[in-house]
Amino acid sequence: MRSIAIVCSGGDASGMNPALKRFVEYAIANACTPYFVYDGYEGLIDDRIGEAHYRDVSGILNKGGTVIGSSRSERFMLPKYRTQAALNLKKRHIHMLVVLGGDGSFRGMDTFYKEHRIACCGIPATIDNDIFGTAYTLGVDTALGMIRTAIDAIRDTAASLNRAFVIETMGRECGYLALVSALTSGAELCLVPEIPYDLQRITPRLKQQLQEGRHYFIIIISEGIAHDREAIATWLSNDVGIETRLNVLGHLQRGGNPSVYDRLMAYRFVTYAIDALLNGNNNSVVCYNDHTFSYRNVHDVATTPATVEAELLRLATPLCTLEH
Ligand code: F6P
Repeated sequence: MRSIAIVCSGGDASGMNPALKRFVEYAIANACTPYFVYDGYEGLIDDRIGEAHYRDVSGILNKGGTVIGSSRSERFMLPKYRTQAALNLKKRHIHMLVVLGGDGSFRGMDTFYKEHRIACCGIPATIDNDIFGTAYTLGVDTALGMIRTAIDAIRDTAASLNRAFVIETMGRECGYLALVSALTSGAELCLVPEIPYDLQRITPRLKQQLQEGRHYFIIIISEGIAHDREAIATWLSNDVGIETRLNVLGHLQRGGNPSVYDRLMAYRFVTYAIDALLNGNNNSVVCYNDHTFSYRNVHDVATTPATVEAELLRLATPLCTLEH
């Protein structure tokens, strides 16, 4: 029997549990022994690795987060800890590893493969949708659903008290969550790092809306411009002239039970990852574009900056500048 392990690394994303379930079932169907690595690369270093059984994945599909834990590991950046991690796998005759994570996790995976020749396959999993080479990363749809629910609720109170709300979404450097949320929630304005904005030029347009009868605003900003969040709230109060509240959505965006789409994508991503490893594809990331799965070299994926798709930027630009 060949052995194959799976690890969740970095920020958790809803869809990881459905991925773990499919991993165990598909590995066994392919005559492989599945293993879980607990608590991310930290657990890989500290030998928290155990064989996984059907019973371990029963009843987990509807849970957010990851039942095997994750971590952001500083130690995995150091060669001596990667060596320790490789020994932990090799002593169990595990020579294949599936990594669920983001670009930082994939950089670690690339080095790990090159140093220790343990075949790896990455599955993009982060709510930020900021991985080069793939249009979708696991967890995005569920996060967008959580954000939608929050914005809809905030709209109720904003409208009742005639206030502006500045609502900040996650996305470390990437405005994807903010842009999609703004377009789909009827926000009046969206501010993201990808699209230059000039508050002074926006002021008269919002003032005009107030004069025309609008009595509240929903303004979505992305974490990438968090340094400006207070200034934006002050600008709304002082320059636009509307009582304003600031709402940082934070980690609630990472939780929640996985959407149907994320459950399905988890199933598909894992199937392609295991197929890759069984077919000798040793160091790749499963990517999804134009309804099609493909494999990309992990080095390219991990080292190339991701960009938000041009069409989304074009569609959202009027909402980000209030210029048409
Ligand atoms: O997983 C991605 C992400 O949610 C980013 O959007 C955010 O900047 C970061 O993780 C927060 O990380 P932590 O949970 O470690 O504070």
